[in-house]
Amino acid sequence: MDEDSIRARVREVIAARPEKGRTQLLEVLHEVQAAFQSVPRAAAEEIEREMGVPVTDTYGVVTFYDLLTEKPTGRTVLRICEDVTCHLHGAEALAAAAQQAIGPEGQPTADGALSWTRCACLGLCDKAPAAHLGEEPLAPCTTAAVAKAGGSHV
Ligand code: FES
Repeated sequence: MDEDSIRARVREVIAARPEKGRTQLLEVLHEVQAAFQSVPRAAAEEIEREMGVPVTDTYGVVTFYDLLTEKPTGRTVLRICEDVTCHLHGAEALAAAAQQAIGPEGQPTADGALSWTRCACLGLCDKAPAAHLGEEPLAPCTTAAVAKAGGSHV
C-alpha cells in the first residue's frame, strides 16, 4: 500500500475515535496494526500531524508492546510464550516447530497469512507451554498444533 493510502486510512481511524488526543494513541495503534499488520513510518508521521504525538513517542509505544510491530507480520500471528514457565515446559521445541512449519521468526508466509514470534507471558502459565494463534489461545500448545497451524501456509 502506498504512503498516501496509509495516511488516508490513519486519518479515518483517528476521525472515527469518539475522543481526540494522546489518550487515544494505543487504540489508534491497534487499529493501524490491524489494517497494515504493522505501524508503518507514514502512519506514525500522520499520527504526529493529526494527534500531536511525536513519531519517537509512537515508536516508543510500538516497541514496548508485543502486539504492535514496525515490521509487517502475517495477517494472523502465532505467538509462542518464551517466559520462564513456558520455557521450562518446552517453548523452545514449539519455536523449532514454528521455524520448520512457518519459516523464520517474524517473516510472513508467502501468502501473507501467517507469521510467528516469541512473546512474553500470555497469562496461561498454568497450561504451559502456551501460545496464541491470532486471538485463540493454544494451551497447552504442542508441536503438532504448531505444525498444523503452519501446514496450510507453506
Ligand atoms: S510463562 Fe508462558 S504463559 Fe506465562
